[in-house]
Amino acid sequence: MSANRTAKSIVKAVLGVGAIGAGCLAYAGLYEVNAFRLRRLAVRVLPPGARPIRILHVSDVHMTPYARARQRWLSTLGALEPDLVINTGDNLAHQEAVPYVLGSFGRLLDRPGVYVWGANDYYAPKFKNPLRYLQGPSRSDRLAEPTLPWHDLGRGFKEAGWIDLTHTRALLEIKGVRLGFRGTDDAHIDQDRYAEVAGPIDHDEIDVAIGVTHAPYRRVLDAMTYDGHDLIIAGHTHGGQVCVPFYGALVTNCDLDTGRAKGLSKHIAAGRTAWLNVSAGVGTSPYAPIRFACPPEATLLTLTSVSGETYAA
Ligand SMILES: [Fe+2]
Repeated sequence: MSANRTAKSIVKAVLGVGAIGAGCLAYAGLYEVNAFRLRRLAVRVLPPGARPIRILHVSDVHMTPYARARQRWLSTLGALEPDLVINTGDNLAHQEAVPYVLGSFGRLLDRPGVYVWGANDYYAPKFKNPLRYLQGPSRSDRLAEPTLPWHDLGRGFKEAGWIDLTHTRALLEIKGVRLGFRGTDDAHIDQDRYAEVAGPIDHDEIDVAIGVTHAPYRRVLDAMTYDGHDLIIAGHTHGGQVCVPFYGALVTNCDLDTGRAKGLSKHIAAGRTAWLNVSAGVGTSPYAPIRFACPPEATLLTLTSVSGETYAA
């Protein structure tokens, strides 16, 4: 092959790769980032004979006033009329986002709810080199005063009757089942203090124990599992956000393995096992508005009796 033909072949190959890359980027930023889906799961944790309890798990909304598609889709979720909403944080990505979060949740605020906070409720997003995300968990320099109006959002949640689980225990009776909750602040910014709520689950008082945290760091999952939680609910990972088709996530942005970046799995610690549900989240940082092979989601998690069924979607 002549040098001229070789050069032409290389140019064609480079242009071809560039066109595929541009196509993937357009797909990720124009389509998939707004291709919302409801993941439906069921898990057997309720006492024998108990009626199913439908939990809507919402996470990582990263709301801005301009995220219209996200707002529209979120506002449809109220029609599900879940028995309980669990919000695992990272609601905000803009100073003026609070009314858009509360407005989008709409009828969901009429349902019982519990929540914890994530770093992106406290601190406004910053531009970062997107390749940095693939190198491992981002380290945070966010120990300064919060810059986002999370207090205002918390006021809205509390006015709706939702319970802030940050380093708090709570008990809710739903359909005759006593659900015990413990939550932590965000482990990604080292604000988790699970020890404040730690201790063996008292099954004389609680039928099902649910741990709630933003970032599923193993130290939190281990401690909750060790204490006897039946189920742990988390977000933060964005499911990997930019994934490889037929392979999955490359990163979790924490120390959880990539095989559990989203969906239902089991967590084992000290010989005990808890179910773990990690949401891939509804939104993204405004500085990384793409998703690939990892569509935005909320989860409708149906708790069934131990004699019921378990399924993953
Ligand atoms: Fe997030």
